[in-house]
Amino acid sequence: MTRDVDSSPGWQEVPHRLRCGQALGEPWESLFVGLRPASTVVGQIGQSLDGRIATVSGHSSDINGPQGIAHLHRLRALVDAVVVGAGTVRADDPQLTVRCVSGPSPVRVVIDPRGTLPAESRAFANDGVHRIVITRQETRVDVAEDVETIALPDSDGRIEPRAILDALVERGLRRILIEGGAQTVSSFLSASCLDRLHVVVAPMILGSGIAGLDLPPIADMTGALRIPMRAHALGSDVLFDCDLRSGGPTGR
Ligand SMILES: NC(=O)c1ccc[n+]([C@@H]2O[C@H](COP(=O)([O-])OP(=O)(O)OC[C@H]3O[C@@H](n4cnc5c(N)ncnc54)[C@H](OP(=O)(O)O)[C@@H]3O)[C@@H](O)[C@H]2O)c1
Repeated sequence: MTRDVDSSPGWQEVPHRLRCGQALGEPWESLFVGLRPASTVVGQIGQSLDGRIATVSGHSSDINGPQGIAHLHRLRALVDAVVVGAGTVRADDPQLTVRCVSGPSPVRVVIDPRGTLPAESRAFANDGVHRIVITRQETRVDVAEDVETIALPDSDGRIEPRAILDALVERGLRRILIEGGAQTVSSFLSASCLDRLHVVVAPMILGSGIAGLDLPPIADMTGALRIPMRAHALGSDVLFDCDLRSGGPTGR
């Protein structure tokens, strides 16, 4: 029996194929078809059945199972840049590298408008990957010289998500993963800056904690964001791949 490598590539080939615009083959094509366009912004949320991404104290590791975590690392390997808010760095001190699967680690981007994060944060570690800190124009950030600082205008401390994306695109970073946390993903969604949203739901209930999304209130169900979606089993987790570009009116 011969194996058709063109239609069923192993994972290792997928990052290269996606960048070259080649067919991915199954199961990768179904999972990552939404990341095909060379310019795509995808948000991700790893959450419990009751929509929590962390406990009240901010503890979030081990929400997703091994396959859900591998999916997050595959997303990192497929994008040019991964973006997190300062709250995630404070809570988790994440490395934001690709470790659970093979593939390239993306440029790491941290939004730190007040310059409060320590230079020793693991996201800023010099491991050969470019690092960027996004901050306000009047903020002085304390990071190593080889960490690029992008200072952007703000309004009451808030930097427009669109301005952040424009600055990254100017630097050739076109496939972008907004990895978290809740405030950051919510602000990019609110600003209509996400093309897709990958929600990985784990079979657990926290009952309290940080909600994955926090958007302005809607008056009634007509204001709900209704989204074309495909579901995929990832071991004990379920991935909801939401196509935000084809969604109905949001009222937001
Ligand atoms: N399960 C998951 O998928 C997942 C993923 C990532 C994180 N998490 C969890 O999420 C929690 C952190 O989430 P979070 O919502 O508290 O924080 P967050 O979204 O990580 O960071 C929010 C902070 O980032 C800065 N920021 C982000 N966007 C900004 C913008 N457009 N303009 C100006 N500043 C901006 C601000 O920093 P300042 O606070 O300095 O003003 C803001 O308060 C942690 O518990 C972490 O473990 C879970």
